[in-house]
Amino acid sequence: MLLFSLGGGFLGGCASRRTKSPEEVRAAEIWRASCAFCHGIDGNPPPEWAAKGIRRFGTLGMKLGFFFGGDKMRAGIARTIAEGKGSEMKPFKDYLTPQEIAALVRHIENL
Ligand code: HEC
Repeated sequence: MLLFSLGGGFLGGCASRRTKSPEEVRAAEIWRASCAFCHGIDGNPPPEWAAKGIRRFGTLGMKLGFFFGGDKMRAGIARTIAEGKGSEMKPFKDYLTPQEIAALVRHIENL
């Protein structure tokens, strides 16, 4: 998979918040290489993808969802990543381990 695109990979403010664990670094790499094309690096999809019904991540609504939905919300997101949704959001379970998917859920939660 295209995980070599680390060039210019500074995440600005996020990077300085605290030291990232290897899982977080890996999740950020996967996000950049495999998800950001459609979802946007910051979870804000480019217009052509927003028009296809991708919801923005990192919004207050998402934060409330994580806050009130807790592990149920996280499990739902993990399921969507693993199994896919609709015709454009492909299943990733053949490419990512459950640990990587769990780390991606946390990445989305922290966008
Ligand atoms: C080719 C474009 C594309 C790529 C690449 C892609 N997605 Fe998606 N994703 C979509 C679309 C379109 C939807 C909306 C599907 C729907 O609601 O029918 C979606 C939905 C989702 C959802 C569900 C959000 C909700 O509304 O519940 C999650 C979570 C998600 N994607 C995570 C990821 C992750 C993580 C990756 C990378 C491993 C990824 N996506 C890669 C297009 C993409």
